[in-house]
Amino acid sequence: MDKNKLKKLIEPVEQDLTIFDRRLAECLKGETPLITSIAQHLMRSKGKRMRPAMMFLLSRAAEFYNENTISASLAIELIHTATLLHDDVVDDSDLRRGLETVNFKWTNLVAVLMGDFLFAKAFRTMVAPQSIELVAAISYATERVSVGELRQVEETSNYDLSEEEYLKIITDKTASLFAVSCEAAPILAGVNGSTRERFSKFGEKVGTAFQIADDLLDFVGDANVTGKEPGNDVITGKVTLPLIYTLRNGDKGKQREILRILGNGIDQGEFRTILGYINDAGGIDYAHRRAVQIANEGLEMVKELKGSSYYKSLSGMVEFSTSRAS
Ligand code: IPE
Ligand code: IPE
Ligand code: MG
Ligand code: MG
Repeated sequence: MDKNKLKKLIEPVEQDLTIFDRRLAECLKGETPLITSIAQHLMRSKGKRMRPAMMFLLSRAAEFYNENTISASLAIELIHTATLLHDDVVDDSDLRRGLETVNFKWTNLVAVLMGDFLFAKAFRTMVAPQSIELVAAISYATERVSVGELRQVEETSNYDLSEEEYLKIITDKTASLFAVSCEAAPILAGVNGSTRERFSKFGEKVGTAFQIADDLLDFVGDANVTGKEPGNDVITGKVTLPLIYTLRNGDKGKQREILRILGNGIDQGEFRTILGYINDAGGIDYAHRRAVQIANEGLEMVKELKGSSYYKSLSGMVEFSTSRAS
């Protein structure tokens, strides 16, 4: 379902994505048998390609597309993939894009080192456009991913976490790469000032909404569609928006009950109880509303592109980021 929706949205940049796919396969071409087999595994399921698609749609809509756009998109996708390999080690996940994670299929050691290899490939790829501004922007975004992931570890089981702090964490860990994907278009066209800032803000807002929606799936996702049993975040002490809202706005007695359950170590059955409380308190609705609100603030940043034939896809991607089921 989601796949078809997304396929339709990215149709206008299908040609760019085909070149992107081919170049990505070349980047991943193995230098040793181990790298080759992991690369083949990664190519078997390529992910949604949201970041490159947004870069291409924006570049085309604003007429910023040039010969360096593909290199920039590849560097960012390689970094994204590297962070996923590392994230799956950190989260001890066994499933990614419907397939076994690299840490599960091989080992943590292999996943960490392959992640490093992908980072190294990304550094080399981002040098090709010879834009120091691009290198600066991508490097900063990559640093923010690490800061966000580390902050999240630091805040594990902190049930006093505020919405503001939560938003800062997800903006760093996820929205940063969306922001730089959108900012790359003006950077490579030599366009600065307000346009560059607004494009970056657009990506940042969409990426933030995307992660709120991703976190929501851990409460309301269908295991058959997401490939993951819900409840994992709550069970492992990851504090996200529906819970934050409930712990501030819900019924006081139920708040105490949630904290008691969480304090004692929680299983799937207790997750169902907590989910019921969160639902009653409106925590699920609230997180969904916030995602839509933030995504729309993003769209507002690129309204000058309304006249372009690519705009419909851009606004569709914004909507998709808040409403996907997997
Ligand atoms: C997954 O990102 C990690 C998050 C930021 C939630 P995507 O959902 O964009 O991953 P792929 O590339 O499509 O697998
Ligand atoms: C997303 O974090 C990964 C990064 C931003 C590096 P999550 O842990 O929330 O995402 P999934 O659920 O594993 O894709
Ligand atoms: Mg994870
Ligand atoms: Mg994680």
